[in-house]
Amino acid sequence: MNSMKINYGIIGNPVAHSLSPDMHNAAFKRLKLSGKYKKIHLQESQLKSFLKKLRCSGYQGLNITVPFKEKVLPFLDKISPEAKLIGAVNTILVKNGKIIGYNTDGAGYLLSLQKEKKWQAKNKKIVILGAGGAARGILAALCLAQAKQITIANRREMKSQKLAQDFKRKFPKTKLQSCSLLNIGNDLKNADLFINTTSGGMKGNELPSLPLEKLPRKALVSDIVYKPRKTALLQNARKLKLKTHEGLGMLLYQGALAFEIWTGKKAPVALMKRALLKKLKGTS
Ligand code: ATR
Repeated sequence: MNSMKINYGIIGNPVAHSLSPDMHNAAFKRLKLSGKYKKIHLQESQLKSFLKKLRCSGYQGLNITVPFKEKVLPFLDKISPEAKLIGAVNTILVKNGKIIGYNTDGAGYLLSLQKEKKWQAKNKKIVILGAGGAARGILAALCLAQAKQITIANRREMKSQKLAQDFKRKFPKTKLQSCSLLNIGNDLKNADLFINTTSGGMKGNELPSLPLEKLPRKALVSDIVYKPRKTALLQNARKLKLKTHEGLGMLLYQGALAFEIWTGKKAPVALMKRALLKKLKGTS
């Protein structure tokens, strides 16, 4: 029998703030699996050799965070279709000496909307703020789920124009467009969902003011920022009596999907959420 310890971990820089070890270690313990999930701080110059050694290192799975989600791509043996579409990997499975890349960010986000808000993307009109890596993941998941129309607004409009062009080619069935932040009200008027995919709303990084009052009364306002849990954006939406969806769900469900890829077992989602909340309380 192979006596090598099974390990999991998250590679990033910085990585000290990550809440993932708490939720995954709680899940391994609950399912009586012998895994231990660690934080791995890497320099970019170490990435290639780390991934090379990964194939026979005792690691069974990894999460990848900033700034390595795109940088790992050239060093993988196989990449899932969704990760290819997004152009980034947040989960690696080590299997039979091969390293395989997945992306559970977008699917995790959508699963959180489904489970927590009973919200389905099919035929919906959506406005997304931001055009970075998180936006790409969420955009791909929404297109795969057959959203009808998605408008991307970004501070630097060039970036949202490019992203809309890129995804138009990949998903001809969804109407994709970009708009300037100044005109975002025009698209909010008809939106079923507004999502902040940026880090705006975290401490020290404020979002520009947004005309949320233009949204229809039944619209949902969603924020991927989870620290603080009740962001200024969500508080403003609440004041307008709009429905809200908080960011912790994306973290939770991307983790649950990664856990299932690694172990083949159903993730204990409620327990993982409690572990996240406990850790968040301790860090705020
Ligand atoms: P991530 O991978 O987390 O998405 P990223 O790729 O660096 O990070 O992208 C960050 C996104 O958040 C960008 O769309 C950025 O807008 P710019 O391209 O104009 O820089 C956006 N962003 C970050 N802070 C913001 C803020 N305070 N207001 C509006 N947009 C912000």
